[in-house]
Amino acid sequence: MISISDDKVFALTNAEFSYVFRVLDEGLLQHVYYGAPIAHAEELASHFRVDRGATSHFQGVPNLNLNDLPQEYPTFGTSDYRRPALHGVNADGNSVFTLKYVRHTVTIDKPDLDGLPSARGGESETLIIYLADPLHGLEVELFYTIYQNYGVLARSSVVRNSGKAPVDLTHIMSSTIDLPPDDYDVLHLHGTWSREFNAERTKLPMGRFEIDSARSTSSAAHNPFLAVMERGATETSGNVFASTLIYSGNFSLSVETGEFEDVRVLAGINPFNFAWHLAPNEAFYTPEALHVFTPYGLRGMSRIWHRFIQNKVSPERFRNIARPTYLNTWEAAYFDIDEAKVLTLADKAKDVGVQMLVLDDGWFEGRRDDTSSLGDWTADMARFPSGIPALAARVRAKGLKFGLWIEPEMVSPNSQLFEDHPDWALQVPERKPSLGRNQLTLDFTRKEVVDNIYDQIEALLACGDIDYVKWDMNRNMTEAGSTALPKGRQLEVPHRYMLGLYGLLRRLMEAYPDVLFETCASGGNRFDLGMLSFMPQGWISDMSDPIGRLAIINGASYLYPLDVMTAYIGPSPSHQNGRISSIKTRYNAGALCAAKGISLNSLDIDTDVDLLRELMRLAANTSGDFIGGEFTRLISDDTQICWQYITRDRRTIYVAYFHILSAPNLPFRRANLADLDPVAAYELQEDGTIYHGDTLMQHGLALPYVTCGQPQAGVRYMDRGDFASHLFVLRRKR
Ligand code: DGJ
Repeated sequence: MISISDDKVFALTNAEFSYVFRVLDEGLLQHVYYGAPIAHAEELASHFRVDRGATSHFQGVPNLNLNDLPQEYPTFGTSDYRRPALHGVNADGNSVFTLKYVRHTVTIDKPDLDGLPSARGGESETLIIYLADPLHGLEVELFYTIYQNYGVLARSSVVRNSGKAPVDLTHIMSSTIDLPPDDYDVLHLHGTWSREFNAERTKLPMGRFEIDSARSTSSAAHNPFLAVMERGATETSGNVFASTLIYSGNFSLSVETGEFEDVRVLAGINPFNFAWHLAPNEAFYTPEALHVFTPYGLRGMSRIWHRFIQNKVSPERFRNIARPTYLNTWEAAYFDIDEAKVLTLADKAKDVGVQMLVLDDGWFEGRRDDTSSLGDWTADMARFPSGIPALAARVRAKGLKFGLWIEPEMVSPNSQLFEDHPDWALQVPERKPSLGRNQLTLDFTRKEVVDNIYDQIEALLACGDIDYVKWDMNRNMTEAGSTALPKGRQLEVPHRYMLGLYGLLRRLMEAYPDVLFETCASGGNRFDLGMLSFMPQGWISDMSDPIGRLAIINGASYLYPLDVMTAYIGPSPSHQNGRISSIKTRYNAGALCAAKGISLNSLDIDTDVDLLRELMRLAANTSGDFIGGEFTRLISDDTQICWQYITRDRRTIYVAYFHILSAPNLPFRRANLADLDPVAAYELQEDGTIYHGDTLMQHGLALPYVTCGQPQAGVRYMDRGDFASHLFVLRRKR
């Protein structure tokens, strides 16, 4: 997979891509190629250096103009005017760094990233390039991991100060990818609460295009994902270069098109509002960036991401384990919850065949609304007189699992924890804090704070009857300063916070490996591979309206497999947008997600009890199908969505079709299924018809007809009216 020539051309190649760079005589790293696999990287030699006759020359070397040179880890101030990978102020007070090759090593597998989450190794090799700027004793290690069976290149870097004076760094990016000039589009996912993951595809402009977060959560505003694609690339064809980060805090993914139209993708911690004081003998590890190349368009890209996330990012413990169906108390009761209601809902859950009761917000000391109590993780004795362990045991005695909501990173000003430790919240001197949902963020840069929260969570989990934890986080950070750090290190707080959080999660996962954790941040405000590397599933959105969720799931599926998404049947009219929809469509919108449940009150459950029984039994009986399989977007436009899912054993195919607004006289539509066995016979479960794979892929599956007129015999119809849906199931015969 990794070949290195005598003249130091490094080629990383597997069946999906080649990535090639080399060391110039001057010791700089020149990027040479990233794209479809090529067997003879040495043949690229004739393209190694092109002299434009420019007037800027790197440190007196004729014909070497860095502004025109594709690079691996560029710095600023020596003839490259684009944004660099590494930048800051050195001991001399200037910002000129020159990183030169020193040596390299190749290791089997992957190095540890010092507390940061990263993709698992296995059938992988890592090339480590050691660079140094001897003038300031700065050393950089670049990690490149290539896998035998995945089209993913994992990159990160470590900066060490082996000099005698501190260095103040402002940019320490995880990776740079310099792509050749072309007409590119860029695809990214933006949104806000209850409207996450809107895909926007736009022409890549000259200059800089950036998505980022300065909120100290990866955030719903821009998910950490960006794809640079050939202008003509479609869902199924064309070159796509996509990037993400295994990180949950302030990130930046930017693309700069320089004057010569070459394109630089930078991935890493957001340099805005960041600085790191690197004292002698200290090291800084960057989060891991993941890059995908595919010539097979967006579908090809998603395939690679999904398989990789399923097998290398999601926690191994839950990899092929079906998720329990659940009833969540939030939209059933909000804060108006008590022990009796939980037990009634548990009975309802049992009756409709749900497997787990999840007690959401509102169960702890004094919590009657969102103005108090975060930080005091003991049961409110007025409403939960038996306490959580006893309640959990009673729910379990009914044959259900028990899940609990917590929001451990937060503290309410109105809480015992805050009264005892006002300095434990993030804050800056002499300024009134800006509250978010009436709460403050705990200072997870401090060990004693993290330890306190660990102890409180442990006191809950120790009873052994809590099967699931919904880990929420409901604000973006402001005044992100720490009373425990000196003035010169305050801009380090957001990243130090992430290290504290990841450390806490690691301890908990190790101590309670069988507890299923779900990440949530007001829905999808921190839905990223950092959190998803600890927790197998995420509360992707608070949007309970199925039509709203279609766009959310569709957008998120560019990067994330549906294995990591939690779906639920919420109330109708939806509490988020007031839309009325059928239970069937509410189920179908999440039918291909791994985790399914309901968030309905007793009355709503009683009203639709028969249908809920049918659907929740279906969800429970098929939950194993939606782990580790292959999801495909077949059709996604303004009027219709059609998704396909092939189970891991490739024997069952689900096709979920949604027709959003009804209209008269529409075309007869078909969906061309994908990646079936062309010679295999598949039986459509609803009527026993046999179709072969080639028919379903080439001719397509006839979609139910949308009509406002009189139904005709022999035609399959959608339910009448808006927001109709249909779930096909096909089973392979032999
Ligand atoms: C935000 C979450 O997204 C909701 O599902 C719910 O858990 C509330 N927080 C509770 O406060």
